Amino acid sequence: MELDIIPWANMALRWLHVIAGIAWIGSSFYFIWLDNSLRPEKGETDEGVAGALWAVHGGGFYHKKKYRVAPDHMPDTLHWFKWEAYTTWLSGFALLVLMYYMSANLYLVDKAKLALSNWQAAGLGMAFIAAGWILYNSLCRSPLRRNDALLGAVWFVVLLGFAFALNRVFSGRGAVMHVGVIIGTAMAANVFFIIIPNQRKTVAAMLAGEAPDPALGLAAKQRSLHNNYMTLPVVLIMTSNHYPMLFGNPYNWALLGGLGLSGMLIRHFFNRRHHDDVNYGWLAAGAAMFIAVMIFASISQTGFHKPASADDVSFAQVRTLIKTHCTMCHAQNPSHDGFDAPPAGLVLTDDAAIKANAARIYQQVVVAKIMPLGNETGITEAERAQIGAWVQAQK
Ligand code: HEC
Repeated sequence: MELDIIPWANMALRWLHVIAGIAWIGSSFYFIWLDNSLRPEKGETDEGVAGALWAVHGGGFYHKKKYRVAPDHMPDTLHWFKWEAYTTWLSGFALLVLMYYMSANLYLVDKAKLALSNWQAAGLGMAFIAAGWILYNSLCRSPLRRNDALLGAVWFVVLLGFAFALNRVFSGRGAVMHVGVIIGTAMAANVFFIIIPNQRKTVAAMLAGEAPDPALGLAAKQRSLHNNYMTLPVVLIMTSNHYPMLFGNPYNWALLGGLGLSGMLIRHFFNRRHHDDVNYGWLAAGAAMFIAVMIFASISQTGFHKPASADDVSFAQVRTLIKTHCTMCHAQNPSHDGFDAPPAGLVLTDDAAIKANAARIYQQVVVAKIMPLGNETGITEAERAQIGAWVQAQK
C-alpha cells in the first residue's frame, strides 16, 4: 500500500476551509441583516436599547435587542464570534502553503514572467499579503475612515493595483489566488486585531463598572461592515481556480475588478433592501457588470491567440508536441516527480485520447496557456499556435 498524504491533506484542509468559511460568512450575513432590521420597539423602557426585532425560525419565536453601547450589567453568558474567522484563515493559509508555496514551480511561478525559486515565490507572496493588510489598516486609520464610500473606493483601487502587480510576477492562477488571500487576510485581521480586542475592552470596562467608550464599538462595526462587502468577491476569487478563462486572461486583474464590483453591488442590494424602499437598480448594476466582464473577457481572449495555418500542422507534429510537453504528467504512470496518477484523470499517451480531448487541450494550452503546468517544459508561442491550428482544423 502506498499512501500519498499530500492530496488527502489538501482535501481535508479544503473541507475544513469551506466549512469554516460558510460559518463565518453565514454569521456575517446574519448580523448585518439583523442590524439593518432592528426597529425601535413600542413600550421599551430601557433607554440604552437602540432597537429590537422579532423573528420566527425552526418552529420558534426569537426576540433580539441591540444596545447602543452595552447593557448596564454583564450577562451570565455572552457568545463571541471569532473562531469561524480564525479557522477559515488558518486552514486557508495552510492550503496556500501546501499547494501554492510547496509546489510554487507548478502553480505560482511563471518563468516567462519571473523565474523564482519556490522559496522566493513564497516570500514574495507573503510580502504581498502583509503589505495588503498594512495598507488597508492604514487607510482605515486615516481621515478617510469618516467616509465609508470613499474609503471603500480607495481600497478597491489599491486592490486593483495589487492584482495588476501580482499578475506581472506570478502565474495568472497564483496572482488571482493571492488577491483573494489579501482580501481574506484583511477580513480575518479585522476580526483579530480590531473587532475582538475592541469588544474585550468594552467588556472589561463594564466589569470594572465604568462606562465603555462608544468609539470602540463604532470602529468594530465599521470593520465588520467592510468584511461584509468583501465576502462575495472573495468567495468568487477562491472558486475561480476552476476557470482558466478568468485567471488565464492577460487582463485578469481588470476582470477581477469588474467581478468584485459586481459582487459588492449585489451585496449592497441585499443589505439595503431591508432598510430603504427596495431599489433593484443595485442588483441590475451588479448583473450588468458581470455581463460586461464576460464580454470583455471574450473579446480580449480572441486577440491573444493567433493560430498558425492549419495546413502547416500534421497530427504527427501534434503527437510530438504532446509527448515533449505533456505526457511526463498526463500518463497512466507519470514520470514527473510528485504525480502518482494522471492529473485531472487525463491520459494523453495515445492518439485517440489526444483527438478526443482536443477541445480541452485547446482551452488549456492555447486560450488560457496554463498547460504545461508552470511551463516547465518551455513550450513556445509558435508551438501553442500549432496545437491551436490543428484543433481548429478538427472542427
Ligand atoms: C507538470 C505536470 C503537467 C504537465 C507537464 C501538463 N499538465 Fe495538464 N494538468 C496538470 C495538472 C496538475 C492538472 C489539474 C489542474 C488543476 O487541478 O488545476 C492538469 C489538467 C489538465 C487538463 C484538464 C483541465 C480540465 O478540463 O479539467 C488538460 C486538458 C491538460 N492538463 C492538458 C495538458 C496538455 C495538453 C499539456 C501539454 C501541453 C499538459 N496538460 C501538461 C499537470 C500537467
